[in-house]
Amino acid sequence: MSDEEPKKKKRRPFWRKRVRRSTTGGEHKPVLLAEVLDALKPQPGQTVIDCTLGFAGHSLELLKCISPDGLLIATDLDPANIEPAREKLEAEGGLFAVHHSNFAGLIGVLAMEGVTQVDGLLADLGMSSMQVDDRRRGFSFMRDGPLDMRMDPTRGRTAAQLLNTLPAEELAACFSELGDEPRAELIAAAIVEQRKTTPIERTKELRELIERVAPVQVLRGPGAPPERKQLLGPTTRVFQSLRILVNRELASLTHLLRMLPTILKPGATAAIISFHSGEDRLVKVAFREGFRAGIYDSVSADAVRPTFDERRANPRSRSAKLRVARKSAKPPASASL
Ligand SMILES: C[S@@+](CC[C@H](N)C(=O)[O-])C[C@H]1O[C@@H](n2cnc3c(N)ncnc32)[C@H](O)[C@@H]1O
Repeated sequence: MSDEEPKKKKRRPFWRKRVRRSTTGGEHKPVLLAEVLDALKPQPGQTVIDCTLGFAGHSLELLKCISPDGLLIATDLDPANIEPAREKLEAEGGLFAVHHSNFAGLIGVLAMEGVTQVDGLLADLGMSSMQVDDRRRGFSFMRDGPLDMRMDPTRGRTAAQLLNTLPAEELAACFSELGDEPRAELIAAAIVEQRKTTPIERTKELRELIERVAPVQVLRGPGAPPERKQLLGPTTRVFQSLRILVNRELASLTHLLRMLPTILKPGATAAIISFHSGEDRLVKVAFREGFRAGIYDSVSADAVRPTFDERRANPRSRSAKLRVARKSAKPPASASL
């Protein structure tokens, strides 16, 4: 026998592990793909950014269009996405750089790549199917797991930490402003009451609390919203609002929208897909204001929605809205570097 201590196996954090998920990587279907390509019209030799790499669904198609000598720069907040997406892009070949970064830090990423302006930019906001389906991330109330919800598990406060410390008013404001939840105050008060004795740590615990204090009420009769919409219910709204709060999603988007005129070359196009009314409003207002200021010479009059066929084939695309803005060929001086 040797005197040497048996070597301890170093545990890898879960976002670095290869895991079996109920969604295999290939199952994340890129939303509004044809519409995005039609808007950006990526050409060989161009430099384009995919702010939300995910499983590289959009990135891969963008890379094919700009290859062999174009450059794709892609970012994602979730470190678990980087390696699988890199492998997928490597199999395609072509020039690309992927960065584990918030798109709010895009200027720094571009500086690292020696790029100042690009020919096109895509942001496909929200979560990927793989994130939703991984119970350990805590995004979905359909699966029991720890209430984490951080897209970047290397930093920031988890949903459980926020739920168990924020004052009732802040929780209610989150559910109401980010989730449009009418019974926000009731739910926030119940959370504060419960955490006095038992902290809320798991998705199941939060779901059960919401179902107890704010059961789904299906309204019937003339003027009542469609039943399917009502059944989305308070649990969906509270979980979505918490995720937005945990990841400071509106702040990152606001930052991106402010940077856009600087990042785009004259004549370049940005395409943004959102899944939440608050995000879509931010995009719509920023594009309209940019149009009035002469920064953009063309912006979507209405959001582009998935076709019936796409919604049927990919139910997660249902709430997607795409908006597009093209930077003016001669923008006002303040709109470029
Ligand atoms: C809907 S998925 C993108 C899917 C991708 N378009 C595809 O086809 O595979 C959204 C992705 O954006 C990432 N994300 C969300 N907010 C981000 C941010 N502020 N900065 C960078 N990535 C972000 C998420 O981690 C997630 O992987």
